Amino acid sequence: MTEQKRVFIKSYGCQMNVYDSERMGAALAAEGYEIAETAEGADLVVLNTCHIREKAAEKVYSELGRLRPLREAKAAEGGQLTIAVAGCVAQAEGAEIRTRQPIVDVVVGPQAYHRLPAMVRDAKAGRPGVDTDFPSEDKFDHLPADTRPTRAPTAFLTVQEGCDKFCTFCVVPYTRGAEVSRPAARIVAEAEALVARGVREITLLGQNVNAWHGAPLDGMGPGLGGLLRRLARIEGLERLRYTTSHPRDMDDELIAAHGDEPKLMPYLHLPVQSGSDRILKAMNRRHTAEAYLRLLERIRDARPDLALSGDFIVGFPGETEVDFEDTLALVRATGYAQAYSFKYSTRPGTPAADAQTQVPEEVKADRLARLQALLAEQQAAFQTSMVGRRMDVLVEKPGRHEGQMVGRSPWLQPVHFDASPGTRGQLVPVNILSAGTNSLAARLAA
Ligand code: 5AD
Ligand code: SF4
Repeated sequence: MTEQKRVFIKSYGCQMNVYDSERMGAALAAEGYEIAETAEGADLVVLNTCHIREKAAEKVYSELGRLRPLREAKAAEGGQLTIAVAGCVAQAEGAEIRTRQPIVDVVVGPQAYHRLPAMVRDAKAGRPGVDTDFPSEDKFDHLPADTRPTRAPTAFLTVQEGCDKFCTFCVVPYTRGAEVSRPAARIVAEAEALVARGVREITLLGQNVNAWHGAPLDGMGPGLGGLLRRLARIEGLERLRYTTSHPRDMDDELIAAHGDEPKLMPYLHLPVQSGSDRILKAMNRRHTAEAYLRLLERIRDARPDLALSGDFIVGFPGETEVDFEDTLALVRATGYAQAYSFKYSTRPGTPAADAQTQVPEEVKADRLARLQALLAEQQAAFQTSMVGRRMDVLVEKPGRHEGQMVGRSPWLQPVHFDASPGTRGQLVPVNILSAGTNSLAARLAA
């Protein structure tokens, strides 16, 4: 009898990496691998990496440093720990990774995951490899469907990948490649399979998800709005979300879907990055602050209880105090329920990296602190506004305390309340009792 092979997959960065890691896990499971919770004792470690900011990219090398003694210990026992680097660092750095860290056996870019099992077999046989091609075929067509049992009522589903926007700070168009949309037929089939496995909420993923323009099914409306409406017809599917969107691609059909499709949750992640028109132009965002605010007005007209999330970059090259104050003004005018904010990070190969007007680190730090203070204030106000409300929560898993369950509100907040484990996967009505920084406490409603 051969011993059970074990793989540990670690995901960094965005939700698409989480989805990709699941798919790689399913592909490796088909090869006889069991998923391990830690690297200790594993035969294969896959690091699914992120290249979006310098700090994110450096994490992979720290992790590889930690894996080195494990690999040596395994070899000393006569075993073999194979190490694969996947994701956007793999795409961006390719063979360089193996020069900098020779313990890496496999380097595989995001568009080549269907080749991972074969590459691992080769590596185990002493033939390490690098694959960062952008093949013309859809990798998902070559990855086995995930049929493993799930206990989670929520799932991600990638519908679109890559980006053609070329914001001047961003590596995504280089690491994930040109925009590619999966056909509606495949997406609907995957969604139906997820629902058959017990999934009640699906989040559609794409770097530019609202630019989705895949082949439609008969009778479907155009774009992501049409796709969402089609998916909403799947019986047993209760909730739909999508992320991440670009303001330029919020078309009428999608806005209308927010107004009249009850399964579409009232929460939208719509990054604006900056509130200064001068900086938006330098970022190549192709819209103004005013256009963004007008767009929000239209979306909120369609769905008045819609809550917003966003991304911001402070200290983009050339950003002055006045530009930064425009960002604060836009945040005040919008009112975010939640948002991510970052110091500009120079990414080699992107246009902004060569700008002569880099903002000093301490200025970036100061602006980030001021922006985050304002965003925290807005989040606190949003959280407080929930107290006393009744809402449906999708129950996800047991909470930390005995007898407690955790679910998600329509606005993505974790909600804690006492209930039986049997409620997992159900939509239950609750009354909100109190609000924390990120989560809510509730009681089951009668
Ligand atoms: N520096 C800082 N933040 C960045 N982001 C993307 N590229 C950079 C960069 N070079 C942020 C943007 C994007 C989010 C995913 O990461 O805000 O929306
Ligand atoms: Fe990057 Fe998003 Fe801009 Fe595309 S739209 S280049 S993914 S920030």
